Amino acid sequence: MPVITHIEDLRVLAKKRVPRMFYDYADAGSWTESTYRANEADFKNILLRQRVAVNMEGRTTRTTMVGQDVAMPVAIAPTGNTGMFHADGEILAARAAKAFGIAFTLSTMSICSIEDVSHGTGGHPFWFQLYMMRDRDFMERLIDRAKAAHCSALVVTLDLQVLGQRHKDIKNGLSTPPKPTWPNLLNLATKPRWCLGMLGTPRRSFGNIVGHAKNVGDLSSLSSWTAEQFDQALCWKDIEWIKQRWGGKLILKGILDAEDARLAVETGADAIIVSNHGGRQLDGAPSSIAALPAIVDAVGSRIEVHFDGGIRSGQDVLKAVALGAKGTYIGRAMLWGLGAMGQAGVTQALNIIHKELDITMAFCGRTDIKAVDQGILLPGTY
Ligand code: GLV
Repeated sequence: MPVITHIEDLRVLAKKRVPRMFYDYADAGSWTESTYRANEADFKNILLRQRVAVNMEGRTTRTTMVGQDVAMPVAIAPTGNTGMFHADGEILAARAAKAFGIAFTLSTMSICSIEDVSHGTGGHPFWFQLYMMRDRDFMERLIDRAKAAHCSALVVTLDLQVLGQRHKDIKNGLSTPPKPTWPNLLNLATKPRWCLGMLGTPRRSFGNIVGHAKNVGDLSSLSSWTAEQFDQALCWKDIEWIKQRWGGKLILKGILDAEDARLAVETGADAIIVSNHGGRQLDGAPSSIAALPAIVDAVGSRIEVHFDGGIRSGQDVLKAVALGAKGTYIGRAMLWGLGAMGQAGVTQALNIIHKELDITMAFCGRTDIKAVDQGILLPGTY
């Protein structure tokens, strides 16, 4: 077993253990992947100011996200197919988040259902992510199911009315579960742990959808469901409808433009997530971290600004916080931990990021994450 010291180690191990089509599903962006790469690369250009001889004792990374106390400004992002990275993946990741004291967000396109996760975490509240879908009855029932499971925030994704093309998914014939073709069977033969796990669970398809949506008995493809159901006509007034039906904390995900951020404020939502969907949608869009400052400027303190895209370390979390994010989300870093070692791997990813965040904050001469601001960044590098 290799010694794991950073998120990259978890990625390398996950690549060995997770079937290729699911590993590639996560480790990919759309078209040329330029935005996907920029999400990570642009963090590296932002430099930190080292301070010395400052009392660094008594540090805390505790803060709040949409009014909820969290151990650090990091939540688990909603990622599709999470339960294909490890059997019962969403339940395991939600347990790791609960133990750590941060929020877990369940994707609509998860393998374990809302009810599975609620049951698997002893009824602990988690966040639920929703897409605007053409089948409004189905959406109403999903929202009601999230309420019944005591979900404590609803995250509505706004940047997936159409799907960005991911070449690898097409080439791999991505389906959930994988079809028994020769290339798939040969690849699965090299992943015995994964196969054993999957044989031991009944959860092998989209648990929120199969058996719940009309005329969907056996949904095998993410892209066919997307093409059929995701509502290309989505507009701001639909958010009002969701807000009313839901009645709780509302977070709007996928804002990349200051003008959209101002419109989002008018909906009365509790938070926005500055996000380019992990570089998986509009290839050629700016990295999330490049887009963040203008959005923070545009909305001021009128709405909480959250952030995702390219976070692979606690240093990245700290830079996003310095640029005005009240909270951040990890998607791939969590999936790699999960694929590498199940719940223990997610816990390890959280521990790694927390330790890096805490120590880096100290190097920058700060002791309270809530007091971190642009003053820790080298002017001219952001
Ligand atoms: C779904 O949200 C995806 O990016 O595949």
